[in-house]
Amino acid sequence: MAKLEGKVALVTGASKGIGAGIAKALAAEGAAVVLTYASAQAGAEAVAATIIEAGGRATVVGGDVTKAADTEKFVQTAIDAYGRLDILVNNSGVYAFAPIEDVTEEEFHRQFNTNVLGLLLVTKAAAKHLGEGSSVINISSGVTTLTPAGTVVYSATKGAVDAITGVLAAELAPRKIRVNAINPGYVETEGTHSGGITGSDMEKNFVAMTPLGRAGYPDDIADIAAFLASDAARWVTGEHLLAAGGLH
Ligand SMILES: NC(=O)c1ccc[n+]([C@@H]2O[C@H](COP(=O)([O-])OP(=O)(O)OC[C@H]3O[C@@H](n4cnc5c(N)ncnc54)[C@H](OP(=O)(O)O)[C@@H]3O)[C@@H](O)[C@H]2O)c1
Repeated sequence: MAKLEGKVALVTGASKGIGAGIAKALAAEGAAVVLTYASAQAGAEAVAATIIEAGGRATVVGGDVTKAADTEKFVQTAIDAYGRLDILVNNSGVYAFAPIEDVTEEEFHRQFNTNVLGLLLVTKAAAKHLGEGSSVINISSGVTTLTPAGTVVYSATKGAVDAITGVLAAELAPRKIRVNAINPGYVETEGTHSGGITGSDMEKNFVAMTPLGRAGYPDDIADIAAFLASDAARWVTGEHLLAAGGLH
């Protein structure tokens, strides 16, 4: 039997990149998946169509993770479509890098609102529906331990995600809900292309330092999410899983 048969998942930011990969992997393991997007409706619908063509179940909903009403709508979509919620993947996120002298209030608030407030609002909306055996997976980043120069705001947001993961693992443990983080190294995605990271010196340095000798791809992260979502990870909570090809 597929390891997520009968489960329902909500994946934020599933229109592209890591989120799209995770949505496809969870669906391939039998979960019905609700995919959210902020602006890329066509992208989310294309990912859902791929899932459905492969025999899976998928529904798409648009909205902004920084708006509480939208996060309630994400969760309600799962309940209306499939009657329950077992897996939450907090993947929506933004990144931009600058040295300390170029840090701005606007960029601080944009990244913290999406990566931290958004994650909290979605989790708050989902928590009331999550039952025993549910799994919350936060997409953090390897930057929280690698601390690369020039990433101070982004690394701070993901440091907050690591802390939140520990706190919520403790808070939700009495309800037998697990909360873990995946901390990817560099993963080539639409976001790294549009953000000018793919092809940059930053990318070359990351790949050169990576023992397994290549960039990561969304599938590398998606398979870990499918494991953490499953009962095979029933004894794993509050962990930060560095997935960076051996880079420490
Ligand atoms: N790529 C990497 O090297 C890497 C490494 C470590 C961690 N991460 C983390 O992995 C996650 C995904 O990264 P990615 O590279 O796959 O990014 P991406 O290709 O840029 O995709 C980002 C996704 O987040 C959604 N999103 C952005 N702002 C949103 C908002 N305000 N409300 C709702 N959704 C929003 C986007 O929606 P629309 O497209 O619809 O606008 C999109 O679906 C992020 O949390 C990122 O920090 C990435």
